[in-house]
Amino acid sequence: MLADFERIDFDIGKIESWPFVTALKVGSLDLSKISLVVENTNHLDTEIKKFASSQKTSDNLMKRRNGITKHLTKVLTNKFRGSTVTTFGSFESGLSLINGDIDLCLQFNGEKPKKVLKKIARMLNEDGMDNVTLITTAKVPIVKFIDSQSKIPVDISINNSLAVHNTELLRRYSALDSRVKPFIISIKYWARNRGISDAAMGTFSSYAWTLIAINYLQSLEQEVLPNLLKKDDSDTVDIDGTNYDIGMFLDEELHFTTLNKSNIGELVSGFFEVLAKDWPWNNGVISVGSGKILTRKEKNWVATKPYVSDAIQDPEIKRLGKFALPVEDPFDNKHDLSRVLDVEGVFEIRDEVIRAYQLISKNTNWSIITEIKYPEITPNKPKLDLFEDLRNQNDDKTKHDLKILYEQLKQVEKSVLVRESERNDAIKMSKALRRNAELAKEQSGLSSELRPRRSKIDELQSKRDSSNNHYIPVHFIEEELSRVYSILTTENTNRVELSLEKEKQMFSWFFELQSMYEHSKLARKYHREFLKLLEQQQHSIEHIKDIRQEMIEIQSFGKFTDFDDLAMKLLKELNPLKRERRNLRREIGRLEAWLRKQTHFNNNKHSRNKGKRKKSVDNVKVNAVKSKVVSGDSFSLQDLEVLLKNGGLSSVNKTKATHRKGKNKHKKNNHSVTPQRGKRGKSSKNQ
Ligand code: UTP
Ligand code: MG
Repeated sequence: MLADFERIDFDIGKIESWPFVTALKVGSLDLSKISLVVENTNHLDTEIKKFASSQKTSDNLMKRRNGITKHLTKVLTNKFRGSTVTTFGSFESGLSLINGDIDLCLQFNGEKPKKVLKKIARMLNEDGMDNVTLITTAKVPIVKFIDSQSKIPVDISINNSLAVHNTELLRRYSALDSRVKPFIISIKYWARNRGISDAAMGTFSSYAWTLIAINYLQSLEQEVLPNLLKKDDSDTVDIDGTNYDIGMFLDEELHFTTLNKSNIGELVSGFFEVLAKDWPWNNGVISVGSGKILTRKEKNWVATKPYVSDAIQDPEIKRLGKFALPVEDPFDNKHDLSRVLDVEGVFEIRDEVIRAYQLISKNTNWSIITEIKYPEITPNKPKLDLFEDLRNQNDDKTKHDLKILYEQLKQVEKSVLVRESERNDAIKMSKALRRNAELAKEQSGLSSELRPRRSKIDELQSKRDSSNNHYIPVHFIEEELSRVYSILTTENTNRVELSLEKEKQMFSWFFELQSMYEHSKLARKYHREFLKLLEQQQHSIEHIKDIRQEMIEIQSFGKFTDFDDLAMKLLKELNPLKRERRNLRREIGRLEAWLRKQTHFNNNKHSRNKGKRKKSVDNVKVNAVKSKVVSGDSFSLQDLEVLLKNGGLSSVNKTKATHRKGKNKHKKNNHSVTPQRGKRGKSSKNQ
């Protein structure tokens, strides 16, 4: 009757947080002495049926969920071009609770899933969604959040195609027998309310509980559910390079009729009895894909160290070994859904199973059995009536609250403005100071050119000088060349006869002059290059001096990194302020909408009772009130009444926006995540 880990001797002090397991260990609770009697489960059947019908999705909830899904689909497919959004999970399989989440899968191959999820998380945060959490360590990374208005939780995963297929499997199971749906949601409800249905907290996921419940119905002596999987590779899908066999029998191929006549109360009681007295994981693996519990040996999933019994004794052991309470994923049958469990989770699950069984045996009501254990982690019911809290509140109190909210909004807007302008200044300063880094780079570039240029100058100088030292200037050589040339080439009649000796000398002198001319030309070239480089060198030195001067001046303002840090600090302060501003605007919009509704209702009542009501509104008064709001002057309840009758705070913003329109057109933000639900949604976007 005991779970394997309960048979090991360990210090009782270590398990005192789990009273039922402790009672089993110390022998004050003996499961063999507990049994179920029909009288005790009959009432449960009625109660669970009632509970199940209370979980039906109302039209209102359906509208809300569809609205959120439609809006998110639009926003996500706009942001990630070429992507598609698919819904899956319990809402699609028909196994949802009214506080169940919306499961969305974004099919997108443009970027890495984690990067995409980070972008989505940022978008959701900016839009003021509640509890935005990125879980990237899970097998399938997801971003979780709660829709701030309806409080409906949403999970978004990327390319989670297999989940779409296993959702279909669950949908098929839930449609096979009318008892399946109430049975499964009862187990899910119990697990959720008792705090043992959260993979992130080391307990089974809701999906794992669904499989455990289905497997129970498959492994009864008279089974309620058959095995739907064909496992013949006739229908496979390739996901990320792995082939999965997703073939399912059609209803007409099944030839299955159950002989089991148990009612839901009996099925639920039986479920807890089996889990309590015949802990399936002592030697079994929950395998919906096989339609039964497989032995650990058959599946080759024998538990590995550290075992549950080791981990509970030794606080140093943080992770359990593999296959602690194995649950096979039907399509991905290498995946054990119990790998998320931690040792406390296992004890918590076991303790709750025994508790539920004991309570059922004692004829306890379903509401007590499923009493919420940890209110702080149990999802709230969706908030479908936006005015619930205002209905029983005096309107004067609502008006008073609204006035306080206007005041708070004014303060927050002021703080936002101040920080925004400080941040812009810091960014400007940082940009200006970054010039120093550019200057330093330029300076080092120039300095690195100085030395090689200096060597080149020296080299040219010495070449030029060596030529100049031995040869006469070019112009002289040119003149001499021309003179000698003319002596040598003029007709005999016009010149003095040259002796042969003299002519030889002249020729030799002429050739020497030619050679001198070549050298002198070279020296002139060296000299020009020398001058050019010298000029460059001087120019660079001057430039370096200027740069140094500018750097010294800029440095006196501080480092650009200081201003970057300041800008970052201000941004960090701005984000929560903007969130607060968004929430205040939303709340103001909600209260205004309620009061407008009330005013409209009262006016109609008046017009019925007192005949024709004065229709024209005193425009002067309206404008005066609006200008009070803009200027931040205090105003009376009567003023508030006038404002509400004439469009509320959003109408003031609109007036301001129209003034600006010509100069500064509003850019449409396509990535806003808030669903545009009527005027209120629109006004909240108008930040
Ligand atoms: P959920 O945990 O949201 O379960 O996972 P659920 O079935 O929708 O139940 P509730 O009503 O929200 O509590 C959503 C879907 O993700 C897939 C399953 O298809 C599941 O229905 N999933 C979940 C997996 O494939 N593997 C897991 O480990 C968890
Ligand atoms: Mg779900």
